[in-house]
Amino acid sequence: MKKIIAPSLLSANLAFLYRDIEMLNESEADWFHLDVMDLSFVSNISFGFSFIQYVKKYTSKPIDVHLMILNPELYIKKFKESGADHIHIHYEACFHLNKTIFLIKKYGLKVGVAINPHTPIFLLQDIINDIDFVLLMSVNPGFSGQVFIDHTYDKIKDIKNLILKKNSTALIEVDGGINLKNSYFLFKSGADILVSGSTIFSNSDPKNIIRKLKEIC
Ligand code: DX5
Ligand code: ZN
Repeated sequence: MKKIIAPSLLSANLAFLYRDIEMLNESEADWFHLDVMDLSFVSNISFGFSFIQYVKKYTSKPIDVHLMILNPELYIKKFKESGADHIHIHYEACFHLNKTIFLIKKYGLKVGVAINPHTPIFLLQDIINDIDFVLLMSVNPGFSGQVFIDHTYDKIKDIKNLILKKNSTALIEVDGGINLKNSYFLFKSGADILVSGSTIFSNSDPKNIIRKLKEIC
């Protein structure tokens, strides 16, 4: 499978949001990654439904929504209506994970389960056949521009083993602290999708960074 690059708009310049959306449309980026935060599950707040609607209106690329919120099951319908194509919910934020996974599927969306750096992979064994993606956090969620946690490489290998053992079709998406150096090793370890925010948007030629990330695939 061709590897996927999903730029995170958390690092975009919100004063020039339309310009950044157009830049991603013209680039080799595959998806738009949108980080939704609620000031409870993480100590930050980002954007919500109207932001997603706006982005959806100006791109035809898939909208990959990462929910860093408590009680996500209450808002799945709204996120679907706003334009989400994929929804990731956090393992640590769901009391009834199986139920919420199937709720997302009921709306015809692809579903991912995100896990924090401290969450062991074996906890996914009973849902790995029900999901499209594992979103592995390589930083603690909440902010862009953090330092990549090296333990991520071992976790990718553990997820890969679980996927093979269970004959699952889930893809491995990694999020946080990704740059041109570690992306090579992440793909080599078994990652299928890389999310990148500050590495792309802090560069004066973001399209070129996206091209380089795609070349590494
Ligand atoms: C962090 C978010 C990430 C973030 C990535 O909680 O989930 O998607 O935007 O940003 P960088 O690539 O700067 O770590
Ligand atoms: Zn994210």
